[in-house]
Amino acid sequence: MKIAVVTGGSSGIGKAVVLELAKRGVGVIFTYNSRKNGADTLVQEIEQNYGVRAVAIKLDLNAPTPFDPFAEAVKKNLAQVWDTQTFDYLVNNAGIGGAMMAHEVTEAHFEQMINANFKGAVFVTRHLLPMLADAGAILNVASTSAKAQTIGFSIYGATKAALVNWSKYLAKELAPRKIRVNSVSPGPTHTNFSDSAFDKYPEYIQPLADETALGRLGRPEDFGSAIAHFLSDDFAWMTAQDVEISGGHRL
Ligand SMILES: NC(=O)c1ccc[n+]([C@@H]2O[C@H](COP(=O)([O-])OP(=O)(O)OC[C@H]3O[C@@H](n4cnc5c(N)ncnc54)[C@H](OP(=O)(O)O)[C@@H]3O)[C@@H](O)[C@H]2O)c1
Repeated sequence: MKIAVVTGGSSGIGKAVVLELAKRGVGVIFTYNSRKNGADTLVQEIEQNYGVRAVAIKLDLNAPTPFDPFAEAVKKNLAQVWDTQTFDYLVNNAGIGGAMMAHEVTEAHFEQMINANFKGAVFVTRHLLPMLADAGAILNVASTSAKAQTIGFSIYGATKAALVNWSKYLAKELAPRKIRVNSVSPGPTHTNFSDSAFDKYPEYIQPLADETALGRLGRPEDFGSAIAHFLSDDFAWMTAQDVEISGGHRL
């Protein structure tokens, strides 16, 4: 039986990944930040419907020193819930969005973005690597903003470009252990992202759908099965790749 660790599993894309992995019989440790109730409900839903164990752990990537306690909690749960010391798949998905024009960028904006979208993945991975089984897989959730220059998103886009580039370095370093490392780059997707911006400002939806070849925004479930596939042995020969999943955004 496989076990996955998914950051940001309490909402949106991460939640869809957690559900899809559970449907495929994968045990899941996932993190939440603000949505404790949602995380608890998801654990119940998985254990009742899919017959695998799930554990939710609080992780705030903008807290001062979140990594040691998180790694300890993962280690403890692997031992107590699954009677093992290792897991197989790591999905660095947690992240935050937000825009700020270059001439107005604050250090607080920069630090929050870099912590949640890049530093978090780097140090979650660094702390969990001793527990990740050989021949496992890491999947980092980047963004089309790593390449597209949408006005105001320079810091967000730069953190995601860093994540994509770092993933390729990691793929090379971890190849001797047969651990594959890839990233996916979602296009605009209707989730709770950016303080539920698409629910608060629905007028942004149609223009983004119009510049997407397949004619709509992404949905969380568009990513659940794709990411579960990329983690699985179906993609055993793919590493160091970034795959855009966007319905053809700005083709
Ligand atoms: N939606 C889009 O248009 C889009 C496009 C491209 C890329 N992405 C990327 O997709 C990933 C998932 O985003 P989403 O669209 O699914 O958004 P979402 O619905 O807002 O989910 C974000 C997840 O990250 C967690 N999170 C937020 N801040 C955190 C922090 N400081 N520390 C730890 N965890 C934190 C949230 O936890 P709580 O909910 O419990 O607070 C939640 O589980 C992100 O990396 C994002 O950059 C999204």
